[in-house]
Amino acid sequence: MKPSPRENSVPSTSTPRARRPAAQSVLLYLGAVALAAGGAVISIASGSTGDATKPEASPIYGVTIPKAYRQWQLIAPATEAAPLDELRAVLGNDKAVGAYGKGTLPFPDGTVLVKLAWKQVPSPEFESATIPGPATTVQVMVKDSKRYADTGGWGFGRFIDGRPADLAQHQTCFACHAARVKDRDYVFTRRAP
Ligand code: HEC
Repeated sequence: MKPSPRENSVPSTSTPRARRPAAQSVLLYLGAVALAAGGAVISIASGSTGDATKPEASPIYGVTIPKAYRQWQLIAPATEAAPLDELRAVLGNDKAVGAYGKGTLPFPDGTVLVKLAWKQVPSPEFESATIPGPATTVQVMVKDSKRYADTGGWGFGRFIDGRPADLAQHQTCFACHAARVKDRDYVFTRRAP
C-alpha cells in the first residue's frame, strides 16, 4: 500500500471519525504510523506471525478493537502535555452515550469506550492550529461486570499499530483508573459540553 500523507489533511466540517468505513480508516492509520516510524514498525510487523486481518486480543482481558468504532459518538477530546504531546478523542458506543446522557453510574454492561490518540503537530497551513499527526495508540474499555469483576467490571485493551501492547502495560491500567476515578466507575472522561 502506498501511504498517503494523511497527517497533513484537515477534516473539513465534522469530527475526524466521520465518513470513512472503519476498515479503511485502520489501514490509513497503519499507513500513517508506518510512515512516521519507518523501518522500525515494518520490521516488527514482518517479524510477527499473527494474521494481520484478524483482530488480536489484549493480554489479561481479551479485549479487541471494536469494529465500527469510528462511527461512534464523540464523548470528549483531550490533550496530553509533553513528553507524550498527544491529541485524544474518546468515543462511545450507544450504551456509553445513553449512560452519559442520563448520568447513569455505574455504566451498564455492554458499554464500550475507545480513546484514540495522535501526536499533535502544527497545521502546515495555519501556524496557531494544532492537528492530529501520526496515530499512537487506540485504547479500549469494555464493561462486563461478571467477566471483569476483579477490575471494577472493566476490561482494558491498548493497541499500537492495531496490535495489543504487552502484558506489563496491561497490568497498569486498572490501578491508575482505580486510584483516581473509582467514584466515577473508573472512567476519567466527562462528556464535553
Ligand atoms: C497513569 C494513569 C493511567 C494508566 C496507567 C492508564 N490510564 Fe487510561 N486514562 C488515564 C487518564 C488520565 C485518562 C483521561 C485523560 C485522557 O483521555 O487521556 C484515561 C482515559 C482512558 C480511557 C477513556 C475512558 C476514561 O476513563 O476516560 C480509556 C479507554 C483508557 N484510559 C484505557 C486505558 C488502558 C487500556 C490502559 C492500560 C493499557 C490505561 N488506560 C492505563 C490514566 C491512565
